[in-house]
Amino acid sequence: MMKTDKWTVGRIRRYKGKGRIVSLTAYDYATARIVDEAGIQLIIVGDSLGMSVLGYDSTIPVTMDDMIHHASAVVRGVKRALVVADMPFLSYQVSIEQAVDNAGRLIKYAGADAVKIEGGAFRTHLVNALLNNGIPVMGHIGLTPQSVRAMGGYKIQGKTKDSAERLKEDAAALDEAGVFSVVLEGMPAELAGDITSMISVPTVGIGAGPGCDGQVLVVNDLLGMSGEFQPRFVKRYANVEEEMRRAFKEYRREVEEGEFPGKEHCY
Ligand code: KIV
Repeated sequence: MMKTDKWTVGRIRRYKGKGRIVSLTAYDYATARIVDEAGIQLIIVGDSLGMSVLGYDSTIPVTMDDMIHHASAVVRGVKRALVVADMPFLSYQVSIEQAVDNAGRLIKYAGADAVKIEGGAFRTHLVNALLNNGIPVMGHIGLTPQSVRAMGGYKIQGKTKDSAERLKEDAAALDEAGVFSVVLEGMPAELAGDITSMISVPTVGIGAGPGCDGQVLVVNDLLGMSGEFQPRFVKRYANVEEEMRRAFKEYRREVEEGEFPGKEHCY
């Protein structure tokens, strides 16, 4: 049954020019519930799961089973936000048939509202196939982490005239193919602003400046739960890591010294 006041892909698309889209990643039920209650409109179950939660050093090892497991948990925590699940590396690159099957699993078994794929104009045939099968698609261009090996590292894209032009063409092609929104990652702010005013669907930026229609951050980065990792585009709104360390140490001390459990914790 459709949940009340739910953000749908149509509602996100129509929001362009009306207000800013606020998005966060989430990977589990508990976090997704709080993110949703905070009024965040768009939750991306990113394959950043690989680094943020599973301890890998890139998104490459993340599997479809990982994504279904975590996206399902997120969906169970959400009442209003639109939930977009990332298609992990090699779940959509090999063949259209396999891609439709995998995307369908994220919708059918995890309950995601839409899927996200990395890549530009060369993905439009896949966008068409997914849309023809009733699966809404979010695009993702610029710094595309699944291509980290090909890019030779996590490098800002679109810095030359040619590569900026290519990114504009990619955004236009995805727009034309029917994506409901496009993530712009790791590119000069001016280019992201140009792309945003050029295409008909909302852009959601990460490391792409204020000219996008919305912003997304990896939830662990925002909370201060990603160790030393703090690229320039991240703003930490909390230091949860420090607070967790403090709580764990205090608990340890109280148990060791026989302070916990106290009378009030006993039946
Ligand atoms: O994997 C991810 O978390 C993402 C978001 C940053 C958009 O792709």
